[in-house]
Amino acid sequence: MLAEISAADGSGRELATSHGGAYSAVPFCRESRWALVKIRMTQIAGQLSDTERRLLTEAILQAPKKPENVIEVGTWLGGGSTLHILRALQRNGAGHLWGVEANRSIYEQMLANIRAAAPEVCDRFTPVFGFSQDVLPQWIKTQKPASTVDFVFLDGGNHPGEQIKEFHLLDRLIPAGGQLMAHDAIVRKGKWLVPYVSLLDNWESHLHSDSSEVGLFHAKKTAGAPSSASLRAARAKLFRMQCSPMEIAAGIMPSPVCGFILNLLPTRFVKFLYHGFK
Ligand SMILES: C[S@@+](CC[C@H](N)C(=O)[O-])C[C@H]1O[C@@H](n2cnc3c(N)ncnc32)[C@H](O)[C@@H]1O
Repeated sequence: MLAEISAADGSGRELATSHGGAYSAVPFCRESRWALVKIRMTQIAGQLSDTERRLLTEAILQAPKKPENVIEVGTWLGGGSTLHILRALQRNGAGHLWGVEANRSIYEQMLANIRAAAPEVCDRFTPVFGFSQDVLPQWIKTQKPASTVDFVFLDGGNHPGEQIKEFHLLDRLIPAGGQLMAHDAIVRKGKWLVPYVSLLDNWESHLHSDSSEVGLFHAKKTAGAPSSASLRAARAKLFRMQCSPMEIAAGIMPSPVCGFILNLLPTRFVKFLYHGFK
């Protein structure tokens, strides 16, 4: 699928392109005094518990080196991770966030929300429209060879393979000292990433299983590459998880068939399948 991408150049101007068309510049932060008045009153919808918002903020504020480049997958409406990352960067006085969102109407609403509620952080934000699998490789291609990604927050699609794919795309750009956080760590979304990264000995991993119903994973990179033994163990674990009969069945069957079968199953069992081991 050819993704439609919106990106900005980091100077507060959004660059929009559609289906291979030419880029056109659109101001991202178009503020009026009325919008500024609205800031004080606007509550943007967002996910993450209060504890998770605090942990995310502290991870950025207390990083030994202030994060410069930050990537987030799955902004939703902007009031959860996106706003809290941006505010933490603002408090650090450094850093820029690229926020990836795949749903067009949610993306548009998120842009409006951030513009209205936090105009002071707009210059630190580049919204990117599209699926992470499509837009991250394109984004990486546009980076200078020595560029790093110092902080990553993953909270996109529910299939456990997505966080693994996003991790594999970004890992080589994350330097020692860089951080990874991933939401929904104890449900289906994080079912593969958490055990995989926890087995890599160049990451120091911590699972906040009581931060919310769905949990938050936090890992700090301690060295550029894992030992070959730990990489082998992590890959073997991932392979076993990918080969579970349920995953194979879900991968082979067309989605309407999966949907039909799920409709026949008791709700409690469907919840178990969907939310994984929680
Ligand atoms: C759970 S919500 C994110 C919540 C948000 N982080 C917050 O704190 O409020 C997941 C979002 O990821 C988006 N999404 C799903 N798959 C995606 C993908 N592959 N790439 C980018 N965004 C994706 C969905 O459209 C949805 O808005």
